[in-house]
Amino acid sequence: MSSEDEALRQKILDSYKVVCICNKIKKGTIERAIANGAHTLADLKRITRAGTGPCGTERGGITRCTPVMKEMLEKAASRGD
Ligand code: FES
Repeated sequence: MSSEDEALRQKILDSYKVVCICNKIKKGTIERAIANGAHTLADLKRITRAGTGPCGTERGGITRCTPVMKEMLEKAASRGD
């Protein structure tokens, strides 16, 4: 397997990782939303439902998946997506 094939394989596997445990939203779903124009956490919540689960109620509205989604948005912004 070439390194390009291995990189693609790893990217596909990563896309199946669950980012939002509450709503079972995968990383690939978040990535597609960002690629299709989501620029804020509010956009991601509205489009994917990630970040709208009950885990944030005890943490002042900060859900477990919020830091991961923020990081993904920041990386996309730094790439100019
Ligand atoms: S893990 Fe995303 S809302 Fe709880």
